[in-house]
Amino acid sequence: MTKYLIAPSILSANFAKLGEDVDAVLAAGADVVHFDVMDNHYVPNLTIGPMVCEALRKHGVTADIDVHLMVQPVDDLISQFAKAGATYISFHPEATQHLDRSLQLIIDSGCKPGLVFNPATPLHYLDDVMHKLHHILLMSVNPGFGGQSFIPHSLDKLKKIRALIDSSGFDIRLEIDGGVKVDNIRAIAEAGADMFVAGSAIFNQSDYSQVIDQMRAELAN
Ligand code: DX5
Ligand code: ZN
Repeated sequence: MTKYLIAPSILSANFAKLGEDVDAVLAAGADVVHFDVMDNHYVPNLTIGPMVCEALRKHGVTADIDVHLMVQPVDDLISQFAKAGATYISFHPEATQHLDRSLQLIIDSGCKPGLVFNPATPLHYLDDVMHKLHHILLMSVNPGFGGQSFIPHSLDKLKKIRALIDSSGFDIRLEIDGGVKVDNIRAIAEAGADMFVAGSAIFNQSDYSQVIDQMRAELAN
């Protein structure tokens, strides 16, 4: 059976107490820490960089850190995040000049590569790179901000990506990011996702374990 992974997005965490908040969400049962990097260029918002990733590792976080680069250009930050302790690194294909080179940089730096698709980014970017991917991340909102509503068409796009993965024969995780809540996570899983980013749905509640338990209960049904 598929192992579903829940990856809280720390974009909605308390940045003034980030280490404690990450500890709390992991203790509440989260599998992976989703780390949103925004550059005020590729997206209209500015967040956190490699120093914060390194600080979380020094704080003692041992869970996988899933770095989602919403930056342009891409390549400079790959080795910096690898050195800072990233586990997975993904980027948006239209943000790099040389897709294969950027993926190979991630692999060569010892991290697991992913490609991110916005709601309207065409899937042809996958044509010649499936064999290199650890995960595909589908954005179910336009990137840049937490707390947006899930775009319903994403379910159709998820199904298309799931079919591509299954026909490729490669073992590639399918991650969904944006507007994931307790009340839609099951439909999202049924459309083919096996890794779920959730920011506001988790961090805006006082009891993280309650939300995560509810999500797992939905996934088990
Ligand atoms: C948006 C980010 C997401 C975001 C998700 O650009 O990539 O990871 O934080 O937040 P929610 O779950 O609140 O939609
Ligand atoms: Zn993200």
